[in-house]
Amino acid sequence: MSILVTGCTGLTGGLFLNYFSQVFPERELNCLVRPNSDRTTISNVNLKLNYCVGDSSTIETWENIFSNFIPDTIIHLAQLRHIPTIISCLNKLEKIPRLIIIGTTGIYSQYNEYSQDYKIAESQLQTYQGSYCLLRPTMIYGSHRDKNLHKLIKFCDRYGFFPVFGAGDNLVQPVHADDLAQTILTALQRPHIQGAYDLSGGTVVTFRELLTLVGKLLGKPVRQISLPLNAGIWSATLLENIVKERSPVRREQILRLQEDKAYPHDAAQRDLDFFPRTLEEGLRQEVELMRSLGMISS
Ligand SMILES: NC(=O)c1ccc[n+]([C@@H]2O[C@H](COP(=O)([O-])OP(=O)(O)OC[C@H]3O[C@@H](n4cnc5c(N)ncnc54)[C@H](OP(=O)(O)O)[C@@H]3O)[C@@H](O)[C@H]2O)c1
Repeated sequence: MSILVTGCTGLTGGLFLNYFSQVFPERELNCLVRPNSDRTTISNVNLKLNYCVGDSSTIETWENIFSNFIPDTIIHLAQLRHIPTIISCLNKLEKIPRLIIIGTTGIYSQYNEYSQDYKIAESQLQTYQGSYCLLRPTMIYGSHRDKNLHKLIKFCDRYGFFPVFGAGDNLVQPVHADDLAQTILTALQRPHIQGAYDLSGGTVVTFRELLTLVGKLLGKPVRQISLPLNAGIWSATLLENIVKERSPVRREQILRLQEDKAYPHDAAQRDLDFFPRTLEEGLRQEVELMRSLGMISS
C-alpha cells in the first residue's frame, strides 16, 4: 500500500511517523514537504522516506504528485482548508484514494470568520466518492512545539500571573498530540472506518481551572488577573489595526475565549479505541519536557 503524508514535519506529523515506524519499521513512506520545511526533525525515523516538495494548498503540487503516482492512502495533516484543492484534483483524474484528514473542532465555532473555511472544506469532503476518515482535534498540546499551552506554561512560569478576559468559566478540553498521532495510525490500520470523529482530551476544565492546574504542576501559584472582556476585544482590535498580521492576538481569538470548547469523543472511543490521557497527566509530561529542555525553571 502506498501512502502519502502531508504535515510530517509538524508536531502531530512527527509523532505519527514515530508510531508508524514502530509498527512498520523500514517501510516506504511518501512525504509532501515544503521547500523550507525542516526535515531534520524526522530524518532519524526508521522509515524509507521519499520526499515530494511542494505546497499542499496548490493544485500544481497535487498535479505534479499525481502525475508520478496515485497513493492508496493520503494522510493529510497539514491543513483542512486544502481539501477542496486535493479533491478537485482527484476528481479530474477520477481517482479515489482513501483520505485520512485532520480537521478541527473549530468548525463548531459560532464565529463564522473562524469556521467558514472549515465548513466549506468539510462539505466538499462529504461529496468525495472515495472513503475518508476525518479526525477533528480540539486544541492540541503536549510539547514545546504545540501552538498553545506551552506558551501559556512559559508565561505563567516567568510572570506568575495570567490575564483572564471575562468570566474565565468557559470549558476547554485540549487533546495531547501523542493521543492524536496514535489515533491517526489506528485510522490507517482500520480501512473500514469512515466518517468524522471529534477527538477531545481526557478532561474537561474551565479556563480558570486550567490555570490552577498549570500552577500546581509548576509548583508555584499563578495569579489570575481578571479583566473585562471588552478590554481584551478593544486591545486586540487596536493591535490588529496597527500592526496588522504581526498582532500577537486577534480579536476573534479573544471572542473565542468565551466559547465552550468541550466535545464528547464517544464515537472515536468506540471505533478507534480513543482513550485520551487526562489533562493533568498530559500537562505534567509537557512541564517535565519543558524543564528538561531548560525552557522553564526547575
Ligand atoms: N494546533 C492546534 O491546536 C490545532 C487544533 C485543531 C486542529 N489542528 C490541525 O491539526 C493539524 C496538525 O496540527 P499541528 O499543530 O501538529 O501542526 P504543526 O506543528 O503546525 O505542523 C503543520 C505541518 O503542516 C505543514 N504545512 C503547513 N502548511 C503547508 C502547506 N501549505 N504545504 C505543505 N505543508 C504544509 C507544515 O510544514 P512546515 O514544516 O513547512 O511548516 C508542518 O509539517 C493541522 O492541520 C492543524 O490545522 C491544530
